[in-house]
Amino acid sequence: MNPPVTGKNLRSLMPALLNKRYFNYGGQGPLPIPSLQAIQNSWQRIQELGPFTNDVWPYVLAELNSTKKALANTCGVSINRIALTENVTSGCILPLLGLPFKPGQRLLISDSEHPGIVSACIELARRQQLEIDILPVQQLRKGVDEHKDVDILLVNELERKLKPSTKLVVISHLLWNTGQIIPIKNIAEILLAHPSRPYLLVDAAQSFGQIPVATAANNADIYAFTGHKWACGPEGLGGVAISQRVLEEGSPTLIGWRSLKNESIINLEQIDPFHSDGRRFEVATSCIPLLAGLRSSLELLDQEGEETSRLKRIQSLSYSLWSKLKALPEINCILQGPPPAGLVSFTIPHSKSPKRMVRLLGQEGIWIRDLENPICLRACVHVTSECSEVHSLARNIEKVLKRL
Ligand SMILES: Cc1ncc(COP(=O)(O)O)c(C=O)c1O
Repeated sequence: MNPPVTGKNLRSLMPALLNKRYFNYGGQGPLPIPSLQAIQNSWQRIQELGPFTNDVWPYVLAELNSTKKALANTCGVSINRIALTENVTSGCILPLLGLPFKPGQRLLISDSEHPGIVSACIELARRQQLEIDILPVQQLRKGVDEHKDVDILLVNELERKLKPSTKLVVISHLLWNTGQIIPIKNIAEILLAHPSRPYLLVDAAQSFGQIPVATAANNADIYAFTGHKWACGPEGLGGVAISQRVLEEGSPTLIGWRSLKNESIINLEQIDPFHSDGRRFEVATSCIPLLAGLRSSLELLDQEGEETSRLKRIQSLSYSLWSKLKALPEINCILQGPPPAGLVSFTIPHSKSPKRMVRLLGQEGIWIRDLENPICLRACVHVTSECSEVHSLARNIEKVLKRL
């Protein structure tokens, strides 16, 4: 039997965790020292080889390939379905804007999506004369749901909201506001049976690096993630797993030399100059040293334990925080049952300001964030969190509430 996951080794490698109590993994994960060193080493190697020489290209190619392989492995998809991006948003938007919509078709967007993605959908709808419908999921607040009521409610809601002309559904794998996990495979199955075969775009900002993602990534058309949140990699590097259908039916959008089969020459007669794999959605020069940083962080996470064991530890910490907060008289936890992952959102009385709570906790060296929709506070625990931190957070929330 594997020893229980403690996260201790990884924690000891993260300078960001040594002098504060950190609960903003959903905003950005701390970067471990070995990942920082891997970035530095890679940068140095590129300079030694010569940044633009025939000597450096095999190194760059090997870096790109081994990173895509690692990401493809985590997502359980073949390497040709992966495109490297800078962040979650570009992973969602680059393939989205190239989908073949017709005027009058409809986009069904969950009510818990990130403003960047929602605004891109609104602009897309304006340009291509599409209509937008909203799928209510914020109300699904059961948390860990042994009876699968969440799945049933969601499926009912989806079937109610899907129209014959719906061509795209946009939803997150793990909702950034409530912390509820969405059963992506169930949604994909419904869409597959729907007459208009809507595409499924999944925002994986909060799932990648935290919960197992392979089933969802395999069932989505666009599964977009970043390395800089739960995977604890550097900011500026993300990726997207793209279905074979979108690779075949979607056009490249932000086009550059990396999208091209032959990057050095293009003639006007060429009909389809673009790669047919994930590179179709890659653009141009990007920061190669970050690749080594992300691989290092993914390896360090794996060394702490395999995905499901890590999630068990995260769940035990989030359960502990959720129970402590639930016991405080002025706090309402957003989820009615234990959190299925590491996001714990809660409200404080209307008369008290969440922003002030964030500021006052920050003065104690404790970092959480507030959210606008619904207005609430959110604390995240990861495999590197400690029980003592969770105690301290709950105690300080209680203390600060009296000062608000
Ligand atoms: C659900 C969700 N989507 C998208 C984003 C934006 O991420 P990025 O800056 O990597 O595009 C965030 C960031 O918090 C998020 O939580």
